[in-house]
Formats: sequence, structure tokens, C-alpha cells
Amino acid sequence: MDDGARPYDLDAAVVAVVASTARRKRGNWDDRGMTRSDGYLLDNRQSEAAERFNAFATLFDPTTFRHLEGFGVGPGWRCWEVGAGGTSVVSWLAKKVGPTGKVVATDIDTSLLAAARPPVDVRVHDVGAEEPPGEGFDLVHARLVLVHVPDRERALRSMIKALRPGGRLLIEDADPALQPLVCPDEHGPEQRLANRLRNGFRRLLADHGADLAYGRRLPRLLREAGLRHVEADVYFPLASPACAGLESATIRQIRGRLVEAGLATDEDIDTHLANVAAGGMDLATAPMISAWGRKA
Ligand SMILES: C[S@@+](CC[C@H](N)C(=O)[O-])C[C@H]1O[C@@H](n2cnc3c(N)ncnc32)[C@H](O)[C@@H]1O
Repeated sequence: MDDGARPYDLDAAVVAVVASTARRKRGNWDDRGMTRSDGYLLDNRQSEAAERFNAFATLFDPTTFRHLEGFGVGPGWRCWEVGAGGTSVVSWLAKKVGPTGKVVATDIDTSLLAAARPPVDVRVHDVGAEEPPGEGFDLVHARLVLVHVPDRERALRSMIKALRPGGRLLIEDADPALQPLVCPDEHGPEQRLANRLRNGFRRLLADHGADLAYGRRLPRLLREAGLRHVEADVYFPLASPACAGLESATIRQIRGRLVEAGLATDEDIDTHLANVAAGGMDLATAPMISAWGRKA
């Protein structure tokens, strides 16, 4: 992994926070113009969000960057990073495209992108509800985003529309239904409790409109949308320290919702967090399916 692959390489990145005042009038915006709330379960303004994005970077950046390298992303490319979240992918892209390129980074909540500077252009944008933030992109990429977007069909159409002919689309999304356990080796009470809480998390996601079997559909959806040379692969981390970091931050972030919904007690959650902190749980994530293709 080169320097650009390190999570949160803020030095390398970027910015111009461009909030659209026209859109601000339509949605539920915060007073900084960095957020448009739409019921997304895992709010980027909660303190655990940055921990989760760091874990995603550690777990998934090598896979993402391998695909992007394979496309030949380089100087002058125009890229749209959808649902960017934190800065790791955006910073890597900014380094690759250089001053002659462009990286448009969009999210419904850009709180964690505030340090970006050119060639990155940060915009508050809902991919499932708004027109694309530009056209003629050489690359459009979204990781762990569409699964959460209620109108993901529209989002996919919008992303393809924004590509130039021959441009590349890379969609990476989880498929929690394909492998639903946080502890695939369920050999004791700690693992059983972990899997029960994971089941509660999946319930909350589904209640918020997430499609928990979305990842597996991606190759077909890309082909049906007319993309050429569609391929896909899957990455499934197991027993990485970053899986434990992700699990701890996620459970702390949704603690209130789990208790409120009667899916867990505070005692369950405290016990589980202590088990995770003790190590040796062999925690997994949902498999991440990467699917890619080229616009005709
Ligand atoms: C699980 S995080 C993934 C973040 C980042 N792509 C990564 O891989 O580290 C999902 C991100 O999608 C954003 N998001 C959710 N719904 C969205 C929507 N309708 N339009 C744009 N972004 C959205 C969230 O705010 C969050 O930053």
C-alpha cells in the first residue's frame, strides 16, 4: 500500500465546500449547509462515525484502490465519489488525478470532508433524490452507500447518466444477507450475544429502507443498465483488528436505537463491548461486493 492508501491522509487532500443554496431551501439542512437529514441510520456527526470510516478505510481501501488502479485512474481524470463519508478514497483520487483533474465528493452529510481542498469539490447531495452534480465523468464510484439509499434505482441511473461514453462505474456494496453473522464461528455465549446484536442492527437497517441483499444484485443491475464488460468480486474480512474497531464504534453509535426498539438491553451492550475489547472474538464484516463496468 503506498502513502495514498493510508486512512485519513488529510495532508494529501483537498477542497472547496460548495453548498447549493437552491437545494438548501428544499431539504432539512443544518445551519452549516453540511447536512441534509433523510433518516440515514448512522449519522456522520456522531463521534463514532470517524472511527467507522477509519475502519472502512483499513478494511476496504486496498480492494477499492486495486480496482481503481486497474482502471488506470491518472492525471486529468474527472471523478465523482458518491457518499464519500470520510477522506481516504477522496484523498487517494485527488493525488492520482492531480491539479488537472477533478474529484467531486458528494454526501448527504459532508461534516467529515471539511478539510478538503482542490482538486476536490465537496457538495451536499442526495444521490437518490437529486440530479447528478455534473456530467462527462471518467469515473463514478460509490462504496457502502447504495444499500442505504431508499431510491437506489434512481441513484444508479443518475450515476450512469453522469459518466462520459466509455467512463467507468465502480459500485461496492455490502450484502449482509449473504453472510449475516458477526461471529461466523459461533462457539460460545460471547459469540451468540454478538450475533444477536448483529441481528438487531440488521433489523434497524431494514426498517430504514436498506436492502440487505443488494450487493449480490450488482452485476446483473449494471448489465441491465447497459454497461459493458461487467465484472464483480467479493472481499470478506475475518478476524482483523479493524473488524473489532468497526463493531465497537457501530454498536456504540446505535446503542440508543437498539435499546429503544427492544432489540437489546444496556447490559447486553456493555457485556458485548467488553467482550469485543477483550479480543479473540474473530469478528467478521458483511461481504463487500465490488461490481464494475463501462458505459457504452
Ligand atoms: C457506510 S458510509 C460509507 C462511507 C464511504 N463511502 C466509505 O466507504 O468509507 C455511507 C455514507 O453514505 C452517505 N449517504 C447515505 N445516504 C446517502 C444519499 N442518499 N446520498 C448521498 N450519500 C448518502 C452517508 O452519509 C455516509 O457518509
